[in-house]
Amino acid sequence: MEDQKRIKIKALLALASLSEEIVVKGWVRTKRGSKNAVFIAMNDGSTIHNIQVVADPELFGEDLLKRISTGASIAVTGLWVASLGSGQTQELQAKAIKVLGEANPETYPLQPKRHSLEFLREIAHLRPRTNTMGAILRVRHAVAFAIHQFFNEKGFFYFNSPLLTTSDAEGAGETFKVTTLNLEKIPLDEGGKVDYREDFFEKETNLTVSGQLEGELAALALSEIYTFGPTFRAENSNTTRHLAEFWMVEPEMAFYDLKDNMDLAEEMLKYLVKYTLDHCLDDLTFLEKREIEEQKNKPLVERSEQPLLDRLRGILADDFERISYTEAFQILRNSKPNKKKKFQFPIDTWGADLQSEHERFLVEKYFKKSVIIYDYPKDIKSFYMRLNDDNKTVGAMDVLFPGIGEIIGGSQREERLDVLTERMEEKQIPAAEMDWFLDTRRFGTVEHSGFGLGFERMILFLTGMSNIRDVIPFPRTPGNCEY
Ligand code: 4AD
Ligand code: MG
Repeated sequence: MEDQKRIKIKALLALASLSEEIVVKGWVRTKRGSKNAVFIAMNDGSTIHNIQVVADPELFGEDLLKRISTGASIAVTGLWVASLGSGQTQELQAKAIKVLGEANPETYPLQPKRHSLEFLREIAHLRPRTNTMGAILRVRHAVAFAIHQFFNEKGFFYFNSPLLTTSDAEGAGETFKVTTLNLEKIPLDEGGKVDYREDFFEKETNLTVSGQLEGELAALALSEIYTFGPTFRAENSNTTRHLAEFWMVEPEMAFYDLKDNMDLAEEMLKYLVKYTLDHCLDDLTFLEKREIEEQKNKPLVERSEQPLLDRLRGILADDFERISYTEAFQILRNSKPNKKKKFQFPIDTWGADLQSEHERFLVEKYFKKSVIIYDYPKDIKSFYMRLNDDNKTVGAMDVLFPGIGEIIGGSQREERLDVLTERMEEKQIPAAEMDWFLDTRRFGTVEHSGFGLGFERMILFLTGMSNIRDVIPFPRTPGNCEY
């Protein structure tokens, strides 16, 4: 079995019959057969599609065929020929089969049937072998690639912000501490507090909650940059939209105001949806069918009105609705669910934070399309957002997607040193530790803006999955950090 002739299934499926023998390597999905022929469905992860291998029992013998069970890895040498059966146009007529690794049917956890997503999360080490996770992992790759392509085409530079940091960019105190101190014997200072001078970095350190502040330093030199990396948040929210470790894309642009920022966000989201439709149609078609099956068990109100592909095409067709927080507040206050006390968090005072029930009402019921809400009350947003002339709102923007809610959060940044330091005082952010950040406002400050896209929320939207744990290979959530 010569390695050089190995061909991946995706490439093979694009070919008509071949006169030469080829080698295909992969994993057995199913095997069925009769006295005359054994049929093996085989997949190598290059595509959602399996190929059918046909083996003559007389040629291979019972012993070998028995070892070819679901999950086993095999190498098949054979001829790619027109199929006599229905269901496939081509099949691999086996001349030689080698079992590379057996998978004992008594103990192999994946059966050739539908498993619940919850069960699959418990066997995350074998989850990539399933159709669903395989499709999701291929989509994740395509979207990550498209993100780099989009920004590269626009002349943005990929900038690497640190994962280990001493800053809490969002100021929300949801950081994971990083330390090499002996937790059994923590050194204390004169005042009885943890003595971080003895720690690895000689300072209190955490995992990043956002690369934005470091990204701002780069944007104020290179004009347009983006970060794309892991982000960590110790928020104890066990929802279908939150992970403790997720990936965020954070573009930051000098000389952009809030409108430029919204335009870029909308353009990027449409680009990513279009790229995925153009490059992942097989996987999306599978995921659409999967969702339709899954929804049969759900109450009517929880089902999506449109199939997955139509929802994706809908993003391309419509301009996003853009409304201020104040307009959103008025719509919500006068809405039926609010008047009938159907919201868990009633809307009656201006300044209240919008919950996901409100966001989803606006997107799915009221506008029936994606919505960008801008100019939020300053008290519910971060210190770095630019104060508007009304002194009450800041130039923030959240992009809300159907079925997801907030997918992007961003803002125009406060570039005026005096206003920024005042806002930091209000929010009790220690200015001394942020001196490096304030220097950008001291020396050559300019109008600038940026936003953060939650990569997994984007993948949720693109795949029609309903739990964010199912769109990342190794989900980290409260009480859960396996492998
Ligand atoms: O709205 P957020 O907190 O904004 C920021 O972090 C800004 N520094 C971004 C910027 O302006 N550069 O987070 C941005 C996005 C959210 O809209 C959401 O999609 C995602 O990140 N996100 C999460 N995704 C999964 N799990 C979590 N715990 C998330 N928290 C935020
Ligand atoms: Mg946000």
